[in-house]
Amino acid sequence: MRDLKPERLDKRFLQPFSGKAVAPPPVWLMRQAGRYLPEYRKLRAEAGSFLDLCYSPKLAAEVTLQPIRRYGFDAAILFSDILVVPDALGQSVRFAEGEGPRLDPIKSIAGLSRLALSNTHDKFALVCETVARLSNELPRETALIGFCGAPWTVATYMAEGKGSSDQAAARSWAYRDPAGFAALIDILTEASIVYLSGQIEAGVDAIQIFDSWAGSLAENEFTRWVVEPTARIVSEIRKRHPDVPVIGFPRGAAASLQTYIAGTGVDGVSCDTSCPLSVMQTIGRTGTAVQGNLDPLLLVTGGDALDDRVDTICRAMTGLPFVFNLGHGIVPETPPDNVARLVARVRLAGK
Ligand code: CP3
Repeated sequence: MRDLKPERLDKRFLQPFSGKAVAPPPVWLMRQAGRYLPEYRKLRAEAGSFLDLCYSPKLAAEVTLQPIRRYGFDAAILFSDILVVPDALGQSVRFAEGEGPRLDPIKSIAGLSRLALSNTHDKFALVCETVARLSNELPRETALIGFCGAPWTVATYMAEGKGSSDQAAARSWAYRDPAGFAALIDILTEASIVYLSGQIEAGVDAIQIFDSWAGSLAENEFTRWVVEPTARIVSEIRKRHPDVPVIGFPRGAAASLQTYIAGTGVDGVSCDTSCPLSVMQTIGRTGTAVQGNLDPLLLVTGGDALDDRVDTICRAMTGLPFVFNLGHGIVPETPPDNVARLVARVRLAGK
């Protein structure tokens, strides 16, 4: 829990991170900017490659603002990607149309010579310029969330060279040569601290650390590759910027959430769809903010099924420090009207 300065609490989104319940709960959605919006697809087609869009402060700021204009979310999330960090370090990333990310894989310590923190300056600066623009352009009451991928999740893409269903390349490397793999995790941890500090200095109000593949590790490895590096990032950010809450998203790790919270010191956790509401309530009662966890597919389905689940979640989390969100990102098939319906429904909660 953070002791936030009173003026920061003008942004409703930030209140749960000082342990407060807010009615109706603040709402934003992971991947709220993206392909489900026609205005995104239009701008994306004009921008060239996906990373060109991430490194264009003017266009990235515009894409960040698109869902805020449409829906009036309580928070905007910087438009970028977790793979900006390996790209900036020197392992260039490509996004092939319809195929997801592609990198030349790094599978052992020898490959780390391609990476250097000193490479990152110019690309990180472009992202920070996007943040600075957004700080000026966003409505006063809208918080701006900065982010990075957690070292473990980013390392899975770097080792595999693409997305994978089992993260085998990173898991095997970590078993075969833990010291070598630790060297990669250390580089990513340091780069993440520099990157997040830059985003905060440029104006973000809160940080989210996306650990999309946290759920693929056994207990000891979860501590070593998820909890410990995240704890280091959180403590460095807290030392430098005590007023900026940090949210962790260890997807797929509902059974280890208490270990994660206690071990990392995050101010809030984002819970995936599989996390029981009873677990979210237990965490909320300790004063840690909880975010989540509607199934993104219900946002495709819409109708009563969507309304009912929104109501159930809001009812369960009433009186607790809670932010409404999805359990994972919006999918491209989502009808934009269903997002408007969700926001309206959340805003009825507690009325
Ligand atoms: O949430 C937001 O609106 C902010 C922007 C954001 C993006 N990616 C934009 C994006 C954020 C926070 C991310 C995080 C991200 N990126 C994660 C963690 C969250 C998660 O989804 O688990 C991961 C694992 C990535 C890596 C990544 N980026 C993949 C695997 C892909 C391809 C899959 C896909 O949906 O196309 C991306 C591409 C990507 N990142 C897109 C967007 C809008 C789509 C690219 C396009 O427009 O063609």
